[in-house]
Amino acid sequence: MSEPLILGIESSCDETGVGIVRGNQLLANEVASSVEEHVRFGGVVPEVASRAHLEAIVPTIERALKTADVDLGQLDAIAVTAGPGLMGALVVGIAAAKALALATGKPLYGVNHLAGHVAVDLLEHGPLPQPAVALLVSGGHTSLLRVDDVATKIIEIGATIDDAAGEAYDKVARLLGLSYPGGPVIDRIANGDGDPQAAGDPTAIRFPRGLTAQKDLVKHRFDFSFSGLKTAVARWVELRQRDGLDIPLADVAASFQEAVCDVLSAKAIDACQSLGAEDLLIGGGVAANGRLRVLLAERAEERGIRLRRPRPGLCTDNGAMIAVLGAQMVSRGLPPSALDFAADSTLPV
Ligand code: KG4
Ligand code: ZN
Repeated sequence: MSEPLILGIESSCDETGVGIVRGNQLLANEVASSVEEHVRFGGVVPEVASRAHLEAIVPTIERALKTADVDLGQLDAIAVTAGPGLMGALVVGIAAAKALALATGKPLYGVNHLAGHVAVDLLEHGPLPQPAVALLVSGGHTSLLRVDDVATKIIEIGATIDDAAGEAYDKVARLLGLSYPGGPVIDRIANGDGDPQAAGDPTAIRFPRGLTAQKDLVKHRFDFSFSGLKTAVARWVELRQRDGLDIPLADVAASFQEAVCDVLSAKAIDACQSLGAEDLLIGGGVAANGRLRVLLAERAEERGIRLRRPRPGLCTDNGAMIAVLGAQMVSRGLPPSALDFAADSTLPV
């Protein structure tokens, strides 16, 4: 078969994404986000997300087909996120994908969202040499993965033992009185919001780096912990307020961000070296973070590791990541899913 033409549907959280790829070539990537509807709640409300998916799914599929200039009949297969994610959100994408597969007779692949965050890199940087290491950092997940085969063999070598990195950003933003989602806001404020003079000093406050002490490295070398960091920021802010001092927002944001990015990048590079991997790829919403991208690039270069950074729009949830993973499965001749497969909100990688 020539390169397979795949439509991918993503609906695990608050983004309704539909992507179309031909092999590793991106033809369309349409995303409708309900993030605005969650802002006043300070986090994703599952029922609100499900309803938004229901409203957005058909128009988003139509837009993607139009952008790619593709008819449903031309597709080789349909791929959809099977999990992990919010149950009520997943089932909307899965129902739509099943309906399309039934109506067109095309094979259907229920795929892993986390593997999709890894596979999306193929669209920008082509085949991934093995073994590679992937640092997956989102609102729900923070893991280090060994990638032996993007479609069939991804092994988790470490993960957060409490909050995900994105969750830490969101919680710290909330305690600083900033809006949701906190990641992009903290990223911007730490950078001075466009004014380099107003950028925060990342060394202003030395916040803790979770699970980096010698004793932690024995059992948790590739694991992460961010809840102590969040508590440290809360405590620091409380003490300032108690003493009637103002809060230097940019410095707090930059210092918090430095603690997160320092640990993420140090452990990711350590994982590459310990596994003999020459390629490190990053994915998930936090992989869009400006400081993380710079720090990883510096540290990877020092160690001769190739860093694969998908553009920010491909790091956050989207349908193209599901489509490209589906294309990999079709190319390997893997069997499609049964039409009655169920969503799995806790699907492991
Ligand atoms: O992968 P994603 O779109 O959704 C899932 O959680 O699966 O990631 C969303 C998370 C949120 O916690 C958000 O605050 C964070 O990614 N995020 C960022 C940035 N952009 C999004 N965190 C830090 N810096 C950013 N620029
Ligand atoms: Zn995600």
